[in-house]
Amino acid sequence: MNIVKTIIGIGLLLGFVIVVATCSGAEESSPDGAHDFPAGHPVVDETTVEQVSEGQRLFAEAGCAGCHGPDGLGASAPHVIGHSADIVRLMVRDPVDQMPAFDADQLSDEQLDKIAEYIGNLSGSRADVERAVRRGITHQQLAIHAIDIKDRDDALYHLQNSVRYAHDVDRIPELNDALALLESGDWAGARELVASGPELQGAAERPLEQMYLDLGVLALRAGDIDDSTRNLTIYVDLSDDDSARADIEQTLELIEAGDIEQALAIAESLLSVLERS
Ligand code: HEC
Repeated sequence: MNIVKTIIGIGLLLGFVIVVATCSGAEESSPDGAHDFPAGHPVVDETTVEQVSEGQRLFAEAGCAGCHGPDGLGASAPHVIGHSADIVRLMVRDPVDQMPAFDADQLSDEQLDKIAEYIGNLSGSRADVERAVRRGITHQQLAIHAIDIKDRDDALYHLQNSVRYAHDVDRIPELNDALALLESGDWAGARELVASGPELQGAAERPLEQMYLDLGVLALRAGDIDDSTRNLTIYVDLSDDDSARADIEQTLELIEAGDIEQALAIAESLLSVLERS
């Protein structure tokens, strides 16, 4: 499973940080009082460090950073934290929607591997990765619901986002097939392909409106304002809990006013209350 690899990757990275921190803590001051690393002080395997920083440099040079932010944390395009190397390779060579494709002339396989490794090691927390995975699964769950109520636009939206936020590279072709089936009017075929996904087996059953709230919060965290607004507005339409609705109406106003931090605080605390009940 890619997610397992990602978590292991982050674990290794944290281990690396701890090693560096431990080693530098043991450093002695140089005579003039400055804290220098002594010459030739290989705390970790240097090839790894070189490769990772090379990946970061390529991420900037190839233009990825221009859309995904200098640290991959998101800018005009979504953040890339939590994406396995497989997904990165696939996205770069064969992107789903607005992202431009990079062919081997623009970016060699070797360079792409370095970028993929850099992204795979980005220091998102385990919680960030879990959120990113949940976003993909929730879109698939809501795609099924939209298909069941024959809401074509909503089904297309959720399916496109199921592809975008898929974390299992093997699922992407199937989800793309489901999208094509839906576009051709084969609702049942599309539903079957989505519902057969291994990541949906055992996924928590949650009330419909709560899934929209969750998506709204996840998008807001990732800086996708339009996406967040869309899903929070649907939450307000669906929920019959007056006080929760008032919270999210206030959240939407805060988003519009640009106070994302406060908006996130209100929406996340509502979500955690609802999740516990
Ligand atoms: C012109 C802007 C742009 C550039 C340049 C770009 N991307 Fe993207 N990228 C996007 C957009 C937008 C998405 C969301 C999916 C879509 O619309 O295609 C995306 C999606 C992704 C994703 C999946 C993330 C997600 O959650 O959807 C990865 C991984 C990714 N890009 C990696 C890269 C890498 C690596 C590079 C550089 C080689 C790169 N991108 C260059 C715009 C860009």
